[in-house]
Amino acid sequence: MTGPRFGVNIDHVATIRNARGGAAPDPLRAALLAEKAGADGITAHLREDRRHIGDADIEALMAALTVPLNFEMAATAEMQNIALRHRPHAVCIVPEKREERTTEGGLGVAQDENRLADFITPLRDAGCRVSMFIEPDPMQVEASRRIGAPVIELHTGTFAEAHLAGDMDRRAREFERLAEGVRIGTEAGLEVHLGHGLDFETARMVSTIPDVAELNIGHFLIGESVFLGLEEAMRRMRAAMEQGYAEGRAAA
Ligand code: PXP
Repeated sequence: MTGPRFGVNIDHVATIRNARGGAAPDPLRAALLAEKAGADGITAHLREDRRHIGDADIEALMAALTVPLNFEMAATAEMQNIALRHRPHAVCIVPEKREERTTEGGLGVAQDENRLADFITPLRDAGCRVSMFIEPDPMQVEASRRIGAPVIELHTGTFAEAHLAGDMDRRAREFERLAEGVRIGTEAGLEVHLGHGLDFETARMVSTIPDVAELNIGHFLIGESVFLGLEEAMRRMRAAMEQGYAEGRAAA
């Protein structure tokens, strides 16, 4: 292993497409290009309001991708039906509020344990690798383990925000919370992913944390593609992840 797996989130290609209501730019084209450029997986979030990815996009991705699709969805009956119809490689359960601009905060697994345990069972039975998108909070990590989720994805949004705000103390505290969350999750036997708001620098930093299996990155990467092209943006992101991973190994 030379670093975490690199999951490319293509939601914001669909955001740009939907701004004009036509067919371009096509998120499937972006996904296939990302696949060619070495993505380990493609992530797409079918939101309840379909503000970016639509049902037809999921169908097209399932039909054409050769790398795994990580299907992000809210814990609703509608989304469960769609996931069970497509049986993607992975399903990531995220909280969803209509008024939010992006996924704010993690899932309250501990607060909704029985319902979520029942909710993920058919998905697991269908062969989907289920992950819970949570804050790096030991209570949520432990609850995810209890309900039988094999994977957690820790929300890096607060860490990334602190970085962008130049608040180095807060960034250091959030980094420690993430590192501790990864450690607790790994010790509990869970596979740990990280994602949200990552750029080249924050992706490098979190890749220094031992045992991070996967990063899922979208908004910054798609934005950077405007200037660099998707392949070059991905190449730089992968290099940042590999550099972080090597630094983490050297420090261990
Ligand atoms: N992981 C999860 C669970 C997400 O909901 C998102 C945003 O859709 C991401 C990763 C990627 O975040 P960003 O687009 O900020 O890189």
